[in-house]
Amino acid sequence: MAKKSRTRVVRKTRASRKRRSVRAPVPVPPRRGERAGHRIALTVNGSRRERTVEPRLLLVDFLRDHLHLTGTHVGCDTSHCGACTVLLDGRPVKSCTVFAVQADGSEVVTIEGLASAGRMHPVQQAFRENHGLQCGYCTPGVVLAAVAFLRENKAPSEDEIRVANG
Ligand code: FES
Repeated sequence: MAKKSRTRVVRKTRASRKRRSVRAPVPVPPRRGERAGHRIALTVNGSRRERTVEPRLLLVDFLRDHLHLTGTHVGCDTSHCGACTVLLDGRPVKSCTVFAVQADGSEVVTIEGLASAGRMHPVQQAFRENHGLQCGYCTPGVVLAAVAFLRENKAPSEDEIRVANG
């Protein structure tokens, strides 16, 4: 019995020695003035943007902290409220559930990119005229979700609006 257990200890030691000899991958150093991470390029509100970002960076934080587009708000940070909604390749997404690296090569529209030539988007104008703001914190996300919805259904019934809203 004792002999068996001694053998096991010897094997473990050899295995650990072998493991230690495997070299860990060496991270590629960032270019001068750049942080380590992934290089991404995307179009945001019609402008091409390139940045080096950490793979764990959320799209909402990329928009707010890297591009200073602070119209996209973080409400719940748990994917429930929709305050962070932006259009990603024309589809509404909660930008707190998307990594910035996942948006690489895509087109993003935030609330800042909705107006054109100094004129509000018709949905923005409708919100303004009908006092649809409430406190205003989630309004950018609600407006963008409404824009995407109305692109797919130009004349929705009240029931369709209620289902889309649910
Ligand atoms: S912050 Fe609430 S869903 Fe993204």
